[in-house]
Amino acid sequence: MPTHQEIGGMSDEELLQRMVTSHPERYGEAFWEFFTAQVYARVPAHPVVLDLGCGPGLFLRDVAARYTPAALYGYDITPAMIDHARQGTYNGVTPTLAVHDLTAHPLPVAAGTVHLVTMTAVLHVLDDPLAVLAEIRRVLAPGGLFFLNDWIRTPLQMYLASRTDRTADTNADLLRWFRLFPAHNKYTIEDWQWLLTAGGFLVQCSTQLRPHFQVFVTTPMAGA
Ligand SMILES: C[S@@+](CC[C@H](N)C(=O)[O-])C[C@H]1O[C@@H](n2cnc3c(N)ncnc32)[C@H](O)[C@@H]1O
Repeated sequence: MPTHQEIGGMSDEELLQRMVTSHPERYGEAFWEFFTAQVYARVPAHPVVLDLGCGPGLFLRDVAARYTPAALYGYDITPAMIDHARQGTYNGVTPTLAVHDLTAHPLPVAAGTVHLVTMTAVLHVLDDPLAVLAEIRRVLAPGGLFFLNDWIRTPLQMYLASRTDRTADTNADLLRWFRLFPAHNKYTIEDWQWLLTAGGFLVQCSTQLRPHFQVFVTTPMAGA
């Protein structure tokens, strides 16, 4: 039985392979240019970085290769993802990587100790995003940032065209994307903005770096 909460009939192994092969495209130069200027520039020189739903660990690997974090944490519900992440190299940093269900337990991290929490393509699958946002606020250090990168609603025709033109356009492939459509198209940009505000975050900046995804650089609201 799949341990992740993605909808669409993908096995854990299939999702892992998809995350690994699509990583360079998902985290391309436009992403890193934005991340350096709008995210990394706002945290201390040697931050503690925590990636929620870290998948195969490749984002944390890239953070270690590009910057000099003091510590890296990665949590994911899927054991195959964490197994893959543990085989990675992190440029001299030894990351803390663990199987962890964000919806079931508090993060195993002390309050007020993390400078940057990141989350890519995960929050849309969680049934209680406000509880997860509260937990992120708990672990963030004063002045800390939450960087959200997630799917935004797209017309069906555009969604299917962008998904199916990269693989053999078989019926099975088409069926997979029809199944994933409701999950990937759950939130509009305005819905995300509302959710972040309701969860106690102020959006500092937000943009679309690639089709179907919006990024939000946020800070906890005072007194939330
Ligand atoms: C689409 S993948 C994105 C992985 C990674 N963030 C990336 O960009 O490569 C979504 C990830 O969220 C994880 N996930 C889903 N539900 C989760 C939960 N309740 N707790 C922790 N991780 C979860 C899945 O196992 C999967 O690795």
